[in-house]
Amino acid sequence: TACGFVEAADSTPPHYITPTDPEIAAAEEARGWNGRLAAFALTAAPATVDLGGRFVDTWSYGGKAVAPELRVTAGDRMQVAVRNELPADTTVHWHGIRIRNDMDGAAPATQAPIGPGTDFGYEFVVPDPGTHWYHSHSGLQADRGLFGALVVEDPNDASGADVDAVLVLDDWVDGLGTTPDAVLMALNPEISGGHAGHGGGAAPMVHTADSLGVAQSFVAGGHGSSEPLGGMTQHIGYPLHLINGRPPNDPEVVTAAPGARVRLRIVNAAAETPYRVAVAGHELTVIAADGFDVVPTTTDTLIVGMAQRYDVLVTLRSGAWPVVAKVEGRDGYASTVLRSTDAAPLPNPDVGGAVPELSGRLLPESALRPAEAVRLDTRSPDRDYRVELIQAGDRYVWGMAGRDAGKLVMRQGERIRITMANTTTMWHPMHTHGHTFAVPDYGGLRRDTVNVLPGTELAVEFDADNPGEWMFHCHNAYHFEAGMTANLRYI
Ligand code: C2O
Ligand code: CU
Repeated sequence: TACGFVEAADSTPPHYITPTDPEIAAAEEARGWNGRLAAFALTAAPATVDLGGRFVDTWSYGGKAVAPELRVTAGDRMQVAVRNELPADTTVHWHGIRIRNDMDGAAPATQAPIGPGTDFGYEFVVPDPGTHWYHSHSGLQADRGLFGALVVEDPNDASGADVDAVLVLDDWVDGLGTTPDAVLMALNPEISGGHAGHGGGAAPMVHTADSLGVAQSFVAGGHGSSEPLGGMTQHIGYPLHLINGRPPNDPEVVTAAPGARVRLRIVNAAAETPYRVAVAGHELTVIAADGFDVVPTTTDTLIVGMAQRYDVLVTLRSGAWPVVAKVEGRDGYASTVLRSTDAAPLPNPDVGGAVPELSGRLLPESALRPAEAVRLDTRSPDRDYRVELIQAGDRYVWGMAGRDAGKLVMRQGERIRITMANTTTMWHPMHTHGHTFAVPDYGGLRRDTVNVLPGTELAVEFDADNPGEWMFHCHNAYHFEAGMTANLRYI
């Protein structure tokens, strides 16, 4: 179809693209391709998307609120033919993958943007198993709906799961009369540089930050503009929260035999909403964080921050059980249902976002431990950086400051530590491309996105083992676009 997704596995694969940089080529060679190709095609295009009976004009891959899940096996080489039918430049970033630099999808650092009406072929080996996702890395496009789950299965899976289901959590804002890109560009052309607005037709709903965040973030641009955003707030309605693009009253139900071990791969794709997740009548055994195995840890509920993923196992009891993702710290929830095949459907699947497990044992991140196989050895850092996450005055301008911001360089083989000090009143989900952290304060937990909470500091450590130039940024797109970003550069 015109704006569709096809699994192109039978088509003749395009010729392998060798990285032009010899160091990047050597790193790719070392990733150990298993000889299998996993070929897909993605088209980014404007679409009218069904959010469970509410139809919205937005941008999407494949015309859905959540793009199709891409599922491969560790060791495969992915080939993704991307077609851009948007009226704007785009790129696709493969969030969480230890990827070759030139396929990282971060324009202009790693590639030229994919222009309107043109194509780009991504091709890379996926070396590690894990639950990840992919999204546009241009402007605020991910917040319009250009994202989906990317699952890398483990050829030696030892989880014992009988059933595997992905739950993509997402926030949409009702009633925003215009698109975030257009607003941002109008306020500050420098930020969205050249992006055309959505154009054509009313966009009654835009997937983006919550009402506070949007209203605030667009009050000022990131590079000196401080135009008040007249009337913006009054256009903003109530945020809508979805799981796999479905609202609580019309969920996509996950079914399995009674007694089955169900692996839920939870992906938080929201623009700026952390969720507290629980399954009625069940405890959760957490087995992975951002795709890295953890020492299995049991809890009633856990918080999934923006851009983060958790894999949890649930042993399904006979019955139909609400799964709730409650907005952390504010009102609102997404929900779906987990049902055993011997049970009747719930007459009303929307239980109002209330299940007792949400106020049961809450798993702190600091209680998780990395599995032995993914633990980073302890050594003192070769480079010890410190950056501040800042808001400029009382204006909604976000950035990085401090002695090391803007000079994050490293050499191959070095151990890098970055301490982030959040001087603002918001959560900042900090993410690196191409590298993943160990978090000393969380017992060395491995992840690629850490939430730095208001007024706190958090250090992360990683090894410089993937040559290239890489982004390091806050994952709230409107913070990132306003300037809360830096590049990590090999010297
Ligand atoms: Cu998922 Cu640079 O981002
Ligand atoms: Cu931020």
